[in-house]
Amino acid sequence: MHLVALHGYPLDHRMWDPLAERAASGRLGPVTSVFAPDLRGRGRSPHAAAALHAMSLLADDVARDIEGALPADAPFLLGGLSMGGYVCFELLKRHGARFRGRLKGLALFDTKASADDDAGRAGRKAAIEAIRKDGIEAALTAMLPKLLARGARGSSAEALVKSMILATPPATAMADLAGLAVRDEGFEVLSAWDRPLLVAVGDEDAIAPPPDAEAMTAVAARAPWVKLLTVPGAGHMAPLEQPDEAAAGLAELAEAALRP
Ligand code: MLT
Repeated sequence: MHLVALHGYPLDHRMWDPLAERAASGRLGPVTSVFAPDLRGRGRSPHAAAALHAMSLLADDVARDIEGALPADAPFLLGGLSMGGYVCFELLKRHGARFRGRLKGLALFDTKASADDDAGRAGRKAAIEAIRKDGIEAALTAMLPKLLARGARGSSAEALVKSMILATPPATAMADLAGLAVRDEGFEVLSAWDRPLLVAVGDEDAIAPPPDAEAMTAVAARAPWVKLLTVPGAGHMAPLEQPDEAAAGLAELAEAALRP
């Protein structure tokens, strides 16, 4: 089974490398390959940056990317971290019927179903202005302290996070922030979701903390299998910081998804 894995802001596909390695070496249960596209405007994405990256626009891109990258009819799990999770909600809303026959399970990492409130939107506006003035270093300064658990200082995960942020074109980061500010909430999508669901969160996640994860599992009443996984020693990047825990959760999700 494939995992389609969507990265967060302001990151790229490399955040999924530890899980891709585990899939390739048979350490991710029934998941044997990870397809981790870069979202619009960065890395190897074929889609150029727009002025505002609405989650719906990113979801439409990903739907096209899936068609191009996965064999037709191949079953897959859909996963996303933070902004990647918001894109999952839009993908299910807009393309769920199209993928219905092969989308077998949903994995949400360090994300939330609520939309931005006024304070959140004001914060996005200030972050856009900071990047306009100081470049992508402004995003590094703002985000790095919030992304990782305390124990990650000086780690290879921290080095990779820095590299991903610095590789993000400033225009892309600003368009992401503008899209994040106007995103819809995902509770309705989750309450309609009727396949297995994994919700994983780092116990030190400062951006989408454990109560956000609990709120998502609480509404998923139609899902036949739901697991809330709190990952010790992880911040907002659980699959990168503690990949063995994330891999174990995903393997369980895939097994649940394969049950008739
Ligand atoms: C992310 O990691 O994608 C962002 O922190 C999401 C957000 O700021 O809401």
